[in-house]
Amino acid sequence: MQYNLSAAVLISGSGTNLQAIMDYVRDHAVPCDIRVVISNETSAYGLTRARAAGIPTEIVDHREFPDRQSFDRALQQAIDFHKADAVFLAGFMRILTHELVRQFEGRMLNIHPSLLPELKGMDTHRRALEAGFEYHGATVHFVTPELDDGPSIVQGKLKIHKNESPEQLQQRVHRLEYRIYPLAVEWMATNRLQFIDGAVWLDGNPLPENGAEILDENP
Ligand code: GRF
Repeated sequence: MQYNLSAAVLISGSGTNLQAIMDYVRDHAVPCDIRVVISNETSAYGLTRARAAGIPTEIVDHREFPDRQSFDRALQQAIDFHKADAVFLAGFMRILTHELVRQFEGRMLNIHPSLLPELKGMDTHRRALEAGFEYHGATVHFVTPELDDGPSIVQGKLKIHKNESPEQLQQRVHRLEYRIYPLAVEWMATNRLQFIDGAVWLDGNPLPENGAEILDENP
Protein backbone atom coordinates (compact mmCIF):
# COMPACT_ATOMS: atom_id res chain seq x y z
CA MET A 1 0.00 0.00 0.00
CA GLN A 2 1.16 3.54 -0.78
CA TYR A 3 1.33 5.56 2.44
CA ASN A 4 0.93 9.29 2.56
CA LEU A 5 1.73 9.79 6.24
CA SER A 6 3.90 8.00 8.77
CA ALA A 7 3.06 8.36 12.43
CA ALA A 8 4.14 7.58 15.97
CA VAL A 9 1.41 7.09 18.58
CA LEU A 10 2.32 8.04 22.15
CA ILE A 11 0.41 6.39 24.99
CA SER A 12 0.58 5.89 28.74
CA GLY A 13 -2.32 3.58 29.43
CA SER A 14 -4.96 1.23 28.10
CA GLY A 15 -4.74 2.46 24.53
CA THR A 16 -8.37 2.18 23.53
CA ASN A 17 -7.98 5.24 21.30
CA LEU A 18 -4.88 3.66 19.78
CA GLN A 19 -6.96 0.55 19.09
CA ALA A 20 -9.69 2.60 17.45
CA ILE A 21 -7.12 4.33 15.23
CA MET A 22 -5.36 1.07 14.26
CA ASP A 23 -8.66 -0.65 13.46
CA TYR A 24 -10.00 2.26 11.42
CA VAL A 25 -6.77 2.74 9.47
CA ARG A 26 -6.76 -0.97 8.60
CA ASP A 27 -10.47 -1.30 7.81
CA HIS A 28 -10.68 1.89 5.73
CA ALA A 29 -7.27 1.55 4.06
CA VAL A 30 -6.24 4.97 5.37
CA PRO A 31 -2.80 5.76 3.87
CA CYS A 32 -1.23 6.21 7.30
CA ASP A 33 1.64 3.99 8.36
CA ILE A 34 1.72 3.69 12.15
CA ARG A 35 5.42 3.03 12.45
CA VAL A 36 5.77 2.88 16.22
CA VAL A 37 3.83 3.04 19.48
CA ILE A 38 5.81 4.70 22.25
CA SER A 39 4.92 4.52 25.95
CA ASN A 40 6.44 6.08 29.03
CA GLU A 41 4.88 3.27 31.09
CA THR A 42 6.22 -0.27 30.73
CA SER A 43 2.91 -1.73 31.87
CA ALA A 44 0.69 0.23 29.46
CA TYR A 45 -1.79 -2.21 27.93
CA GLY A 46 -1.66 -0.25 24.70
CA LEU A 47 1.78 -1.81 24.09
CA THR A 48 0.14 -5.23 24.01
CA ARG A 49 -2.42 -3.91 21.55
CA ALA A 50 0.34 -2.55 19.30
CA ARG A 51 2.29 -5.83 19.37
CA ALA A 52 -0.86 -7.76 18.52
CA ALA A 53 -1.24 -5.52 15.47
CA GLY A 54 2.40 -6.09 14.48
CA ILE A 55 3.45 -2.50 15.20
CA PRO A 56 6.90 -1.89 16.74
CA THR A 57 6.91 -0.53 20.29
CA GLU A 58 9.33 1.54 22.34
CA ILE A 59 9.39 2.33 26.02
CA VAL A 60 10.84 5.67 27.05
CA ASP A 61 10.44 5.76 30.82
CA HIS A 62 10.44 9.36 32.09
CA ARG A 63 11.77 8.17 35.48
CA GLU A 64 15.09 7.34 33.86
CA PHE A 65 15.75 10.94 32.84
CA PRO A 66 16.88 13.83 35.02
CA ASP A 67 14.59 16.41 33.42
CA ARG A 68 11.88 17.00 30.82
CA GLN A 69 14.38 18.16 28.19
CA SER A 70 16.36 14.93 28.20
CA PHE A 71 13.18 12.82 28.30
CA ASP A 72 11.79 14.69 25.31
CA ARG A 73 15.07 14.32 23.44
CA ALA A 74 14.79 10.55 23.91
CA LEU A 75 11.20 10.67 22.65
CA GLN A 76 12.32 12.64 19.62
CA GLN A 77 15.06 10.09 18.93
CA ALA A 78 12.58 7.21 19.09
CA ILE A 79 10.17 9.05 16.77
CA ASP A 80 13.00 9.85 14.32
CA PHE A 81 14.44 6.34 14.48
CA HIS A 82 11.12 4.99 13.22
CA LYS A 83 10.89 7.73 10.60
CA ALA A 84 7.54 9.02 11.79
CA ASP A 85 6.65 12.49 10.59
CA ALA A 86 3.43 12.92 12.58
CA VAL A 87 2.69 12.26 16.24
CA PHE A 88 -0.66 11.24 17.73
CA LEU A 89 -0.95 11.65 21.49
CA ALA A 90 -3.50 9.11 22.73
CA GLY A 91 -3.71 9.23 26.49
CA PHE A 92 -0.06 10.22 26.85
CA MET A 93 0.18 11.55 30.39
CA ARG A 94 3.34 13.66 30.19
CA ILE A 95 3.61 17.36 29.48
CA LEU A 96 5.86 17.93 26.47
CA THR A 97 8.47 20.66 26.18
CA HIS A 98 7.85 23.54 23.83
CA GLU A 99 10.89 22.41 21.82
CA LEU A 100 9.38 19.01 21.03
CA VAL A 101 5.95 20.46 20.29
CA ARG A 102 7.47 22.99 17.89
CA GLN A 103 9.28 20.21 16.02
CA PHE A 104 5.88 18.79 15.09
CA GLU A 105 3.88 21.95 14.52
CA GLY A 106 0.84 21.09 12.43
CA ARG A 107 1.79 17.40 12.64
CA MET A 108 0.97 16.58 16.26
CA LEU A 109 -2.57 15.70 17.37
CA ASN A 110 -4.07 15.13 20.80
CA ILE A 111 -7.44 14.04 22.12
CA HIS A 112 -8.88 15.66 25.21
CA PRO A 113 -12.06 14.48 26.96
CA SER A 114 -13.98 17.77 26.93
CA LEU A 115 -15.40 20.29 24.53
CA LEU A 116 -12.35 22.55 24.52
CA PRO A 117 -11.79 25.32 25.48
CA GLU A 118 -14.06 24.19 28.36
CA LEU A 119 -12.57 21.91 31.01
CA LYS A 120 -8.87 21.76 30.31
CA GLY A 121 -6.95 19.46 32.66
CA MET A 122 -8.02 16.31 34.49
CA ASP A 123 -11.24 14.79 35.79
CA THR A 124 -13.35 16.40 33.09
CA HIS A 125 -16.42 14.15 33.34
CA ARG A 126 -17.01 14.81 37.03
CA ARG A 127 -16.37 18.53 36.49
CA ALA A 128 -18.84 18.68 33.58
CA LEU A 129 -21.53 17.16 35.80
CA GLU A 130 -20.76 19.39 38.75
CA ALA A 131 -20.86 22.49 36.57
CA GLY A 132 -24.32 21.47 35.35
CA PHE A 133 -23.27 21.58 31.70
CA GLU A 134 -25.87 20.61 29.14
CA TYR A 135 -23.29 19.27 26.68
CA HIS A 136 -19.99 17.45 27.04
CA GLY A 137 -17.71 15.46 24.76
CA ALA A 138 -14.19 15.22 23.41
CA THR A 139 -11.93 17.23 21.15
CA VAL A 140 -9.16 16.28 18.73
CA HIS A 141 -6.85 19.26 18.33
CA PHE A 142 -3.48 20.26 16.98
CA VAL A 143 -0.95 20.46 19.80
CA THR A 144 0.56 23.84 20.58
CA PRO A 145 2.90 24.59 23.49
CA GLU A 146 0.08 25.45 25.94
CA LEU A 147 -1.47 22.44 27.66
CA ASP A 148 -4.83 21.26 26.23
CA ASP A 149 -4.75 24.20 23.91
CA GLY A 150 -4.30 24.41 20.19
CA PRO A 151 -6.94 24.69 17.51
CA SER A 152 -9.74 22.15 17.41
CA ILE A 153 -10.10 19.82 14.45
CA VAL A 154 -13.18 17.86 15.44
CA GLN A 155 -15.40 17.62 18.48
CA GLY A 156 -17.67 14.74 19.45
CA LYS A 157 -20.58 16.23 21.36
CA LEU A 158 -23.29 14.66 23.51
CA LYS A 159 -26.10 15.83 25.74
CA ILE A 160 -25.57 15.05 29.41
CA HIS A 161 -28.28 12.80 30.87
CA LYS A 162 -30.11 13.62 34.07
CA ASN A 163 -28.59 11.73 37.02
CA GLU A 164 -25.75 10.36 34.89
CA SER A 165 -22.67 9.23 36.84
CA PRO A 166 -19.16 10.35 35.84
CA GLU A 167 -18.44 6.75 34.82
CA GLN A 168 -21.48 6.52 32.56
CA LEU A 169 -20.63 9.85 31.01
CA GLN A 170 -17.02 8.78 30.48
CA GLN A 171 -18.18 5.64 28.66
CA ARG A 172 -20.34 7.65 26.29
CA VAL A 173 -17.54 10.17 25.67
CA HIS A 174 -15.15 7.30 24.94
CA ARG A 175 -17.46 5.99 22.23
CA LEU A 176 -17.30 9.42 20.61
CA GLU A 177 -13.50 9.53 20.97
CA TYR A 178 -13.24 6.29 18.99
CA ARG A 179 -15.10 7.99 16.14
CA ILE A 180 -13.45 11.38 16.05
CA TYR A 181 -9.78 10.49 16.48
CA PRO A 182 -9.64 8.07 13.52
CA LEU A 183 -11.52 10.64 11.45
CA ALA A 184 -8.93 13.35 12.16
CA VAL A 185 -6.15 10.89 11.32
CA GLU A 186 -7.86 10.06 8.03
CA TRP A 187 -8.25 13.76 7.16
CA MET A 188 -4.58 14.34 7.83
CA ALA A 189 -3.42 11.26 5.92
CA THR A 190 -5.49 12.17 2.88
CA ASN A 191 -4.29 15.80 2.80
CA ARG A 192 -7.75 17.13 3.60
CA LEU A 193 -6.54 18.84 6.78
CA GLN A 194 -4.31 21.89 6.94
CA PHE A 195 -2.91 23.98 9.77
CA ILE A 196 -2.29 27.47 8.40
CA ASP A 197 -1.26 30.44 10.57
CA GLY A 198 -2.81 28.88 13.64
CA ALA A 199 -6.12 28.04 11.93
CA VAL A 200 -7.50 24.69 10.83
CA TRP A 201 -8.70 24.13 7.28
CA LEU A 202 -10.62 21.14 5.99
CA ASP A 203 -11.09 20.54 2.26
CA GLY A 204 -9.87 24.06 1.52
CA ASN A 205 -12.27 25.82 3.93
CA PRO A 206 -11.49 27.20 7.38
CA LEU A 207 -13.22 25.28 10.17
CA PRO A 208 -15.20 27.08 12.86
CA GLU A 209 -13.35 27.73 16.10
CA ASN A 210 -14.58 24.51 17.74
CA GLY A 211 -13.67 22.42 14.72
CA ALA A 212 -16.01 20.08 12.88
CA GLU A 213 -18.79 18.66 15.03
CA ILE A 214 -20.00 15.09 15.35
CA LEU A 215 -23.17 14.70 17.41
CA ASP A 216 -23.87 11.57 19.42
CA GLU A 217 -26.49 9.65 17.47
CA ASN A 218 -27.66 7.66 20.49
CA PRO A 219 -28.59 10.33 23.00
C1 GRF B 1 -8.92 9.28 26.80
O1 GRF B 1 -10.04 9.50 27.57
C2 GRF B 1 -8.42 10.55 26.21
O2 GRF B 1 -9.42 11.49 25.99
C3 GRF B 1 -7.47 11.07 27.25
O3 GRF B 1 -6.89 9.92 27.81
C4 GRF B 1 -7.76 8.81 27.66
C5 GRF B 1 -6.97 7.71 27.01
O4 GRF B 1 -7.61 6.47 27.05
N1 GRF B 1 -6.54 11.99 26.66
P1 GRF B 1 -7.02 5.26 26.21
O5 GRF B 1 -5.61 4.99 26.73
O6 GRF B 1 -7.05 5.63 24.79
O7 GRF B 1 -7.92 4.09 26.54
